[in-house]
Amino acid sequence: MTVRREFCLRVEILRDPDAVADRAVEIIRETIALPAPVLGVATGHTPLPIYERLRELAATGLSFSHLRSFALDEYCGLGPEDAPSYHAFLQQELFGPVGLGPDQWHAPDGLAEPDAEAHRYETAIRDAGGIDLQILGIGRNGHIGFNEPGSAFDSLTRRVTLSEDTKKANKRDFPPGQPVPHEALTMGIGTILRARKLLMVITGETKISALSGAIMGPITPDIPATALRLHPDATILADEAAAVGLPRI
Ligand code: PGA
Repeated sequence: MTVRREFCLRVEILRDPDAVADRAVEIIRETIALPAPVLGVATGHTPLPIYERLRELAATGLSFSHLRSFALDEYCGLGPEDAPSYHAFLQQELFGPVGLGPDQWHAPDGLAEPDAEAHRYETAIRDAGGIDLQILGIGRNGHIGFNEPGSAFDSLTRRVTLSEDTKKANKRDFPPGQPVPHEALTMGIGTILRARKLLMVITGETKISALSGAIMGPITPDIPATALRLHPDATILADEAAAVGLPRI
């Protein structure tokens, strides 16, 4: 029998996506203030206001020179030159503007042989001393990274098949005629749970059921985000629009 210890998940409901981003940046700055910080970053639309604020801070003097960073995931078959790749997204939205050099940040290589690359990436995270703070979004189906429903809580970085729901949601990031890849490389849920702190951001009415599923009801691989409740230092920042219907204390 597996015995799981459930921890108290912190949930902060904030006014809107700007307030969520402001609070997220406060938490991220605590990590950036560490002597040798390792920040795990997510792609997707929800963290964009956070990255905008980090760019502004870099422009006004905050140094990222000692930061190392790891991306959560990448599509199989896409390289840094492909606009919808997560390499390209992160280079454009965050790493380039805050001045992170190629030796400071890592993302799974979508063009490499996936199984060997997954192993290499997991090892690189471990060799960096692990992740201090992992930023996370959530899919409408409760996925974290590209860990779709049914992913094991002890899963490590690996090749996964994307759900139809995820491909449909992500189609907006692809030019007409270019299909969303069927597969991706993602940190596993076990990889994510090893980070010393987790910070999930959830905004907008399309995430109402994802948020309530994450924080209420049973902890289950059917809703990967429920794994956050097994982490001793996890925070969810949600806006009012996503939190409609949640019980308030
Ligand atoms: P989104 O994606 O922030 O664009 O909604 C989140 C996710 O799919 O994890």
